[in-house]
Amino acid sequence: MAYFPWQDFLSSGIDAMDTDHQSYLDLLNRLAEPAARGDRAVFRETLDLLTRHLAAHMAAEEQTMADSGYPLAERHRRRHRESLEFLESWRRRAESSWWPWQGGSFHVQAMNAFVRHIVEEDHPLATYLQTGRIGRSRLAA
Ligand SMILES: [Fe+2]
Ligand SMILES: [Fe+2]
Repeated sequence: MAYFPWQDFLSSGIDAMDTDHQSYLDLLNRLAEPAARGDRAVFRETLDLLTRHLAAHMAAEEQTMADSGYPLAERHRRRHRESLEFLESWRRRAESSWWPWQGGSFHVQAMNAFVRHIVEEDHPLATYLQTGRIGRSRLAA
């Protein structure tokens, strides 16, 4: 998958959240170059960085959810765990065997999961924090 730039539709309107998401996207875009994502060492290093970044970011979001009494926190936390399990499964795969296409396959799946999580989980959280309401996402507003 090609380089994927930050785009307005990804913005939540909460600066700390958006800054973290932009950093995660920057890390994912390290794999935009075929030579990079086909290199096992680069792939594993990027995966480690993504995992560390995501764990810290998700802990911050979960603290915010707890502090604000966010009603959809349980579902959102479950999606966070699934995201970390997704990264862990790719780490194990890259440890046991390696073909250069794995980096490309991971990159497409991870980018898709990143966009989907922001739109389906983070934007509703941001809307709740900003308005106190559960409801339609920013995209549908
Ligand atoms: Fe997030
Ligand atoms: Fe999240």
